[in-house]
Amino acid sequence: MSPEEFRKWGYAMIDWLADYSARVETLPVLSKSAPGDLRKALPLTAPEHSEDFSQIFADIDRLIVPGITHWQSPNFFAYFPANTSGPSILGELLAAGLGVQGMLWATSPACTELETSMLDWLADLCALPNQFKSTGSGGGVLLDSASSATLCALLAAREKATQGQTNWSGLHQQNGNGAPQHTALSPKSKLVAYTSDQAHSSVLKAVRIAGIGETQLRIIPSDSQNRMDVSALNTAVNQDIQEGNQPFFCAATIGTTSSMAVDPIPEISVVCSQHSIWLHVDAAMAGSVALCPEYRHHFAGLDQAQSYTFNPHKWLLTNFDCNCFYVSDRQALISALSILPEYLRTPVSESGEVIDYRDWQIPLGRRFRALKLWFVLRSYGAEKLREYLRGHMQMAKEFAKRVDQSEQFIRVAQVDFSLVCFRHKAGNTFNAKLLAALNASGKLYLSHTQLNGFYTLRLSVGAAQSQMHHIETAWQTILEICQSLEQ
Ligand SMILES: Cc1ncc(COP(=O)(O)O)c(C=O)c1O
Repeated sequence: MSPEEFRKWGYAMIDWLADYSARVETLPVLSKSAPGDLRKALPLTAPEHSEDFSQIFADIDRLIVPGITHWQSPNFFAYFPANTSGPSILGELLAAGLGVQGMLWATSPACTELETSMLDWLADLCALPNQFKSTGSGGGVLLDSASSATLCALLAAREKATQGQTNWSGLHQQNGNGAPQHTALSPKSKLVAYTSDQAHSSVLKAVRIAGIGETQLRIIPSDSQNRMDVSALNTAVNQDIQEGNQPFFCAATIGTTSSMAVDPIPEISVVCSQHSIWLHVDAAMAGSVALCPEYRHHFAGLDQAQSYTFNPHKWLLTNFDCNCFYVSDRQALISALSILPEYLRTPVSESGEVIDYRDWQIPLGRRFRALKLWFVLRSYGAEKLREYLRGHMQMAKEFAKRVDQSEQFIRVAQVDFSLVCFRHKAGNTFNAKLLAALNASGKLYLSHTQLNGFYTLRLSVGAAQSQMHHIETAWQTILEICQSLEQ
């Protein structure tokens, strides 16, 4: 593609995206595609000869849009949101155009240093404890997802607990390629991790991937408000110690996936610090709320955590993917993840003056994610971001009021943030039918979970374009569809 053609199609694509943003509200929220629809419409093999970009461009509307579930629709209330915004999209575009791969400081100093500054900016904006700032013993890194952050935290915790003698002996005796010289597996692991029955599935996944083993993860029950039961945690830890196991990692949550419950971090941290257990706090969705001072009490106890994560790609107007992962002791993380082959050595890295973020993550290569955050934080400013978050939380409270005032529905969890969990009194089968009918209507998109054995509907506010009138319409649609099912 010549620079002139690139310019032409680049302008056309931005026009298309601006129009999309303006019309997204009119599109059925949940894609109506049937399995295989797109596969059938695509040729079986890649083209042998070049195609004109005008044909490719036309296929976006013809082939792709029908298979899109419109996460940016103001009527998208499922799961948790995946925000985008103009500044963030432009940041993504610039990152793609620059084509930087920032594995080392030397492979693009701006990529590394902008990232360090953005993580420190966010730490200050969210009033995170100083231990997570790059100016102390810790620091932050941008990863692809909260799942990766939890895995990295687990690996760092294991490194610390075993002082580098993990499941793999000889890990630190590296040959010229940075590979271990011998990799004999140690006898059965005694390491034990803890999390609650409301934690995100990424904790279990991390334990599996790390080779800790599912049997070494204790699932601690939660209380009637879906918060980790600390006395059950304490009992489990003591029992493990008595049995000769080594408790090493606990993942707590601020804003659980099912109901946005907040685990009692201060009490959990007491148990963890008594037994030198690494405390990781996952605030994937709720973390953005820490920008608002009046919500910071939910984040109490974070100063006792060894790692913390949240996702600007959920609720801070920043495109997927953008996860912030903070550690209080960067050395533990780097020891767990750094392998240094000859071909990655640079004098500046060896001087110790710079950060090489490749040592803070699983893959080697990395995208220039900090650009979009920089654009978002500067374009909106903290004040507008706070307003935006508060607006969504107000809408959730308004929706909760409607549920509370209705005869047919029950609200089943506290609304501390932006999620309303509720169900129709008619029972699980009816609620499942109701959800299917709502989503099939194309007018809105909700998702579900199980709380205390009940099929529960989740209305999660957080799409960038959602306004109070969308919430009102969503409630009216729920009532109408309910009525049609009852007849
Ligand atoms: C509490 C919590 N943790 C982790 C995740 C996983 O996030 P990611 O997709 O960034 O891995 C989610 C996703 O919704 C979540 O709600």
